Amino acid sequence: MIIAVDGPAASGKGTIARALARHYGLPHLDTGLLYRAVAARVLAEGLDPAREGDVVAMCDFDESLLESAELRSDHIGKTASIVSAHPLVRSALLQRQKRFAQQPGGAVLDGRDIGTVIAPDADAKLFVKATPMIRARRRHDELKRHDIDVSFDRVLADIRARDDRDSRRSEAPLRQAADAALLDTSFLSIEAAVQKAIALVDARRATAG
Ligand code: DC
Repeated sequence: MIIAVDGPAASGKGTIARALARHYGLPHLDTGLLYRAVAARVLAEGLDPAREGDVVAMCDFDESLLESAELRSDHIGKTASIVSAHPLVRSALLQRQKRFAQQPGGAVLDGRDIGTVIAPDADAKLFVKATPMIRARRRHDELKRHDIDVSFDRVLADIRARDDRDSRRSEAPLRQAADAALLDTSFLSIEAAVQKAIALVDARRATAG
């Protein structure tokens, strides 16, 4: 069974995808990490993330980079959003994601274009969303927990800028696949969101026979 989980930054899609993978005993790939790894190399080499030709040369990164906690930073997330808009970068990372999705037994992948591009035939697709205010509140709380001092307004502006960039790009923009179930986590606890996600996946499998 292939499960595709898409949605904007801080919507809860990563937490939900990991919980679904545990529940159904499937391997999980956080595809945002691939773009973050490219972004980290671009920054380490002092390259301009807007220059497609330079960025594409950074797509062949060492696997161990994916383990780096540094990839989770907001600065790398923002740069990942810039590098991911380049069509050549997306195509350089495409086969690897498709292979993961098509492995025997299935998989759970989360990102922006899983249900639309990477696994259009997925058995279950979820589009996870929450209001920008609520996503910014979650991200701000998380930063505070890590003693990172940044204003709420700045976090909200960053979230809005990232949504804008991820949804307006011409190649594989963030959008809900026509056959994806919508899961709004704005007013749900993590536990409630996960239970709802499991119920939606089970309902999809039941209708698929
Ligand atoms: O999910 P994330 O915050 O780790 O993703 C970082 C950036 O990577 C995101 O702003 C857009 C890009 N991305 C993408 O374009 N396609 C994906 N499938 C996953 C992430």
